[in-house]
Amino acid sequence: SASEKGGWSSFMAKEVSEQPDAVANTLRGRIADGHVVVPELSAFGDDVLAGIRRIVIIACGTAAYAGQVAKYAIEKWAQVPVDVELSHEFRYRDPVLSDDTLVVSISQSGETMDTLMAVKYAMSLGAKAISICNTQGATIPRESDAVIYTHAGPEVAVASTKAFVAQITALYLFALHLARVRGSLTEAEQAAQVAELQAIPAKIETVLQVEDEVRQLARWMSDTRAVLFLGRHVGFPIALEGALKLKELAYIHAEGFAAGELKHGPIALIEPGQPVFVVVPSPRGSAHLHPKVVSNIQEIRARGARVIAIAEVGDAAVLPFADTVIRIPLAAPLFEPLLAVVPLQIFAMELAIAKGLDVDQPRNLAKSVTVE
Ligand code: AGP
Repeated sequence: SASEKGGWSSFMAKEVSEQPDAVANTLRGRIADGHVVVPELSAFGDDVLAGIRRIVIIACGTAAYAGQVAKYAIEKWAQVPVDVELSHEFRYRDPVLSDDTLVVSISQSGETMDTLMAVKYAMSLGAKAISICNTQGATIPRESDAVIYTHAGPEVAVASTKAFVAQITALYLFALHLARVRGSLTEAEQAAQVAELQAIPAKIETVLQVEDEVRQLARWMSDTRAVLFLGRHVGFPIALEGALKLKELAYIHAEGFAAGELKHGPIALIEPGQPVFVVVPSPRGSAHLHPKVVSNIQEIRARGARVIAIAEVGDAAVLPFADTVIRIPLAAPLFEPLLAVVPLQIFAMELAIAKGLDVDQPRNLAKSVTVE
């Protein structure tokens, strides 16, 4: 009903706007004196966490993209190898696991059958299991050894938004806890990451101000037949997420690529007028990657692509080559996904609205997929 939506036109619009709170609530009570404390992980004991040799993240859809983002942070901070697997692929391919493997499942609903089956299977092979979940008391956290709840609040729209940023936040808390237990980051390094996390809610609030600009863009593009998304490093899973949002909400063919992969095939898709969103890494924080992505933009622009760049405030290098630049505030590289995803969510939502579609209940989809 209208009152449940609190004055918003849809649950999705409401949930997109709640993302600053979703992150703040996931952080609440889990930071003390500049470091992360996740009491939920005491189920294992620090010696067990220190002895983990490998992490396997299992999830589906948007939750799996949160896992792909977190892989970069976990490997950098905790120095444990991470594989990210789709639950339904993991379950049926005889994965090699041992008792020093930690399985981290990610599920908003906690009821996704594919993920539940994968967790049970991994545990039957001796792995330890942590659940990142948004729904208190759901099946997957009950089956797992430990749970870190994302406190994003109920997510009603089928398209996941606030749960996604909360999942990344929870996974970063997990990564920092692990890094502390393993001694892989100094106190100062931990404090710096914690400060970045704490600054995210206000920065998302700033990004939400792009709404009118992105709505205009979506209206201009409402008869677009295909959209490509490019990203690199943590921007790669964000490109995948931007494409998924557009498929599920606006029923437009969309594909995300790692920008470095362009020349290995996808650049053949570029023809005059082809819209391409590019998630541009920070010129300061990712000085080695930024010029590579700018040169990708030049390459596709030379072939007629219509480039929409999501770039940090002050990044002037993209200006000569992008048709549209959507600005996000400065953040350390690993934290950019929490900002860059927001305009992509809004774009997909606004394009669906421009096409007269139901953004909360896209066709053929269910909020929680409880069948295999
Ligand atoms: C995202 O917008 C989706 N509707 C979908 O990919 C979802 O993230 C996936 O089905 C996983 O759901 P879960 O988090 O409840 O397990």
